[in-house]
Parts: sequence; C-alpha cells; structure tokens
Amino acid sequence: MDNSCLAIVLAAGMGTRMRSAMPKVMHEIGNLPLVGHVLNAVQGAGATSIAVVVGPDMDEVEARAKKIVPQARCFVQTDRLGTAHAVQAAEVAYMDEHDHVLVLFGDTPLVTSDTFNRLRFRLQDGADVVVLGFEADNPFGYGRLIVENGQLNAIREEKDASDAERAVTFCNAGIMGFKGSVLKQLIDAIDNSNAKGEYYLTDAVEIARKHDMNVVAEKADEAEVQGINNREQLANCEKVFQGVMRSTMMEDGITLVDPDTVHFSYDTKIENDVVIEPNVVFGPGVVVETGARIRAFSHLEQCVVKRDATVGPYARLRPKAEIGEGAHIGNFVEIKNARIENGAKINHLSYIGDARVGEKTNVGAGTITCNYDGFLKHHTDIGAGCFVGSDSVLVAPVTVEDGAYIAAGSVVTEFVPQDALALGRARQTNKAGRGKIIRQRLAAAKAGQS
Ligand code: UD1
Ligand code: CA
Repeated sequence: MDNSCLAIVLAAGMGTRMRSAMPKVMHEIGNLPLVGHVLNAVQGAGATSIAVVVGPDMDEVEARAKKIVPQARCFVQTDRLGTAHAVQAAEVAYMDEHDHVLVLFGDTPLVTSDTFNRLRFRLQDGADVVVLGFEADNPFGYGRLIVENGQLNAIREEKDASDAERAVTFCNAGIMGFKGSVLKQLIDAIDNSNAKGEYYLTDAVEIARKHDMNVVAEKADEAEVQGINNREQLANCEKVFQGVMRSTMMEDGITLVDPDTVHFSYDTKIENDVVIEPNVVFGPGVVVETGARIRAFSHLEQCVVKRDATVGPYARLRPKAEIGEGAHIGNFVEIKNARIENGAKINHLSYIGDARVGEKTNVGAGTITCNYDGFLKHHTDIGAGCFVGSDSVLVAPVTVEDGAYIAAGSVVTEFVPQDALALGRARQTNKAGRGKIIRQRLAAAKAGQS
C-alpha cells in the first residue's frame, strides 16, 4: 500500500491484575515482549511511522520498543484518563498528516499484519473509521458493536450498555483505524461523561456517525484478538502462539514428532527436513539447517545447528554455540560460545565453552574445558582430527594442534603440538597380591564388629 500510515500503540497500563513489578506489555510470548509482537505486526503491515504511548516510569518499555523499531517515537501519558486520552498523548505524531492512523493496544499480541492490512484496505475503500470486531464466546466486559445497515453506529462499553445492547455478542477488539484527516477532530470531541469517567476512544464512533462519516466494522477471530490482563490469559496466548508456530513449521516441511511438547521462540528459524523429537525447547535466536535432528529433551538458545548435525537427547546449546555440518552432540553435553566444526563428535557428558573443536575431532565422555578462572574467560583451541580421551580437563587458555591425542583422564595445561600424544595424569602402578590382602583385612575387621 502506498498510503502513509501511523500506528499508535497504547501501552500505558501497568496491568494490575498481572501482579507484577514489570509493565504488562513487557511480559513475553514466545520470548518476545507483548509490545514487540504488536510492533512487528504493524511494521509488517507497512506502518510508515510508529508511536508508542507509555506510562510514567516505563523507560524499559521505551528502550525495548526502540530496539525493535529504532525510529519509533515514545510519548508518556502521565495520568491514565482513558484510551482517547492516551491517543492524545501522541498528538504530536498525528499532527503530521498521515493517510491512515491505526490505534492498537500493546497487550493484544496475536493480531497479524494481515488483519492490520484489512483495516487499511477498508480505509482505502472509503471508510473514515474502521473498528476491528469479533464474535465473543462470552461478551462480558467488552465494548459491544452496534451495527445497523452496514454502518457501525456506536460502541457501548459494558458499564454503559442497556440490557438489549448487552445481548450483542459482536464485540470491540480494541483496534481502530482512522482516516488521518478526521482523527484529531474526533479525539478532540470526546468527553468523559460515562460510567467510568474516562475518555473513551470508542466514543469516536458515535461522534463520527453524528458527522455522517462512514464507519464500518471488520471481523477477526476471537483467538487472534484476545488481550492479556492476567497470567492465565498470558498462558492462553502463549498456547495459541505456540500452536501457530508448530503449524507453520510443519507446513514448512519440518517434522515434529509430538508437536504439543515443542516450544518455539518468535524468531526460531528451521529449514525443511529437520526432525524435532519430543520435549525440545527453542530459546531465542536459534537457526537449524536442513537434515539436522534435534533429539528429545534438548534446550537450545542463540545457536546455529548446521546441515545433518544431530543434537541430544538431553543436550544444551547455549549462546554462540555453532554445531557444524554432520557433527554429533550427544546426551548431557553443554556447549557455549564454541564452534564445533564439521563432523566433530562430542557424544557424552561434556562441557565445551569458549572453544573451537576442529573437523572430525572426537571428544570423549566427560571432557571439560576449564574456561573460567574466577575472573576471566579463556579460549580452548582443539584442531582437526584430534582424539580427546574421556575425562580430560583442558585448562584454558590452551591449544591442541591437529591430529593430537589426549590420553584419557589428562589435565591438559600446556600446548599440545600436531600429532603428539599428551599424557597429563599420574602413572599407574600395580602391586601384586595387595588386593587380596586388603580384602581379607577388611573382612576380619567387619567380623570383629558383629
Ligand atoms: C477496551 C475497549 C473495549 C474493548 C476492549 C477489548 C475502550 C474505552 N474500551 O476496554 O471496547 O472491547 O478494550 O479488549 O477503549 N490505556 C492507556 N491509557 C489509558 C487507558 C488505557 O494507555 O488511560 C491502554 C491500556 O494500557 C490497554 C488499552 O489502552 O493497553 C485498553 O485499556 P483497558 O483499560 O484495558 O480497556 P478495556 O476496559 O479492556
Ligand atoms: Ca483490556
């Protein structure tokens, strides 16, 4: 769409029913704050400028919004006098003429770009005001949409509605679109003569009708427009969001063996022909390339798994883990800030942090990189084609060159040259017959006790 569009995101409410020290819109769905979902969706709908209305002391909301949309402008609504009053806080933004202005709530995270675009099409089609509505299973608490002959005549808030109006199930989702040319006039005409004594944005509808403007309602699914006021609704939204992610993944050619047990982040990127076994959690920033397999009970965040690699079961990939093509990361292995190159294998019970493990190197069970001395982190560099024996400790900073062998149980503190064998453990001695003597002595001692 060529039209310019301002999106005003209302996010001033603390959300007292969340019982949280954090502003409501900072709570997360799929590891992204609610307000982030809304910002991404309006950007997807081609908003040319974005205003976010926050409450006093909501610097973190402002900071987060600007991280997601650097050109977003934030406005503070100092007193919470209603949704129209909140819009007015962003007056500076809508004084610049925009073709379309969308007003939406920061606590309604699942509305899609597609739906925002449908509102914009209605404006382009000649509507002066468009309101997003939905058929409510239980309309209690929502503003009712009073529609006659295709015109939306009013939105009646629960507290102000007559019995007949309360019987209406077509409800206001809270999202409205305005022709830029009419918004200021409508907002300025709104007063607070209602049951709550608030300036209701929804009153713009009746005022617009009085001026014979064209006011219409556009329909959305209830699941998409659900807002969040408490933790239970937060969990419900998360469930809906995860359902959408799982369906999208499967449509894109990814196998989810037991979809309901896999959790994604908003930005999880997985290529086709990846298999995800049950009970896998994707934190933010994960990329998995084609042919890889993520086995059961693994936890991944900010990492890359390349083609045909396998991870898990019970593996943990932490930030900046990079698992090369065809590499194997097995059970109870934790990888952090480490590049595991193509075909390398770390199959059992290991911690590899701040390291490189070269191509086709085999890291034995129980290997640990000692990357931290209590003050600083240090790097471990292991070359290609090495064999690191089980239960080895690599004390960083340390380098093991290509083709080296580390004997099992070694504590490696020094440079290991190419193709060398490093032994860093006490030498074994055998004392003939001593086992038998010890056994007899202990048996006699036990007999003496009883
Ligand atoms: C609002 C609608 C109602 C709709 C419902 C959908 C109005 C008057 N009512 O009711 O028709 O069915 O949403 O969920 O619009 N906000 C501010 N500043 C304020 C007041 C509110 O920024 O002074 C923000 C809140 O943070 C929230 C949003 O506006 O994100 C909606 O406010 P809320 O009080 O939750 O409105 P509802 O009573 O739910
Ligand atoms: Ca609400």
